[in-house]
Amino acid sequence: MEQILAENVIKYYTVAPENGKKLNERLLVLSGVSFKVERNEFVSILGPSGCGKSTLLRLLAGLDRDYEGSIHVDGTDLKEKRVPVCYMLQKDYLMPWRTLMENVLLPAEIEGADLKKEAELIRPMLKEFGLEEFENYRPHALSGGMRQRAALLRTYRMRGDIMLLDEPFGALDEITRIQMQDWLLDVWERYRKTVLFVTHNIDEAVFLSDRVLVMSPRPGRIVKDIRIDFPRPRSRDMLLSSQFLGYKGEILSSLE
Ligand SMILES: Nc1ncnc2c1ncn2[C@@H]1O[C@H](COP(=O)(O)OP(=O)(O)O)[C@@H](O)[C@H]1O
Ligand SMILES: [Mg+2]
Repeated sequence: MEQILAENVIKYYTVAPENGKKLNERLLVLSGVSFKVERNEFVSILGPSGCGKSTLLRLLAGLDRDYEGSIHVDGTDLKEKRVPVCYMLQKDYLMPWRTLMENVLLPAEIEGADLKKEAELIRPMLKEFGLEEFENYRPHALSGGMRQRAALLRTYRMRGDIMLLDEPFGALDEITRIQMQDWLLDVWERYRKTVLFVTHNIDEAVFLSDRVLVMSPRPGRIVKDIRIDFPRPRSRDMLLSSQFLGYKGEILSSLE
């Protein structure tokens, strides 16, 4: 059975009226979104700014049940019951007054878990996340890439088998972004969770994913579902291949 099943999801926001208008306005954001994701798949959701990507992740995280259609995770209807997922917001800042370790401990703290035990589980992971020796640093003393890796580690330590990542590398410079992509694939291949990765970067989507779901401009729906057949582990050479350009062309033409 697929792990995530979204069927004909329709989402409106109710927007406060402008001066002089009496009725609330309804803004259609998602107009019939349907897709499936298998367990342990890496799927990117690619679409222009404002098409409803962040909205879709909020629904998948179970934070908003005000929509039509249905979303099932492991057979559970999200309107009936929340399923825990690891969710990283588009602007997921670390708390500046907390150290790196205290930031990564946050999900455990919220759940009331044993923090000493959790810290012992996190400590060996710091190395793989490139954060060794920085556990007592505060965010301002870390590089942009390190802050993102800390936020990803915090997300990974949340309860759940699904990681919802909302443009995690969007604010990074090109070189750091590329390093972070390589690193993400590396840790993903080791720790394997299902990943739904939101981006508006075509190269990034093709390089990382098993499948790319392309969304239309708002009101968003999935206009293309492209399987990326590159073997893993992925290598940067693939970006220069004609197969890569083929995928890119297919995506570009479906974005028109
Ligand atoms: N809470 C909200 N209330 C009203 N409109 C919203 C709200 N959140 C987002 N929107 C609108 O919904 C549309 C989609 O937003 P969003 O999901 O953030 O798009 P994306 O992440 O693809 O850039 C935008 O037009 C945005 O202005
Ligand atoms: Mg967004």
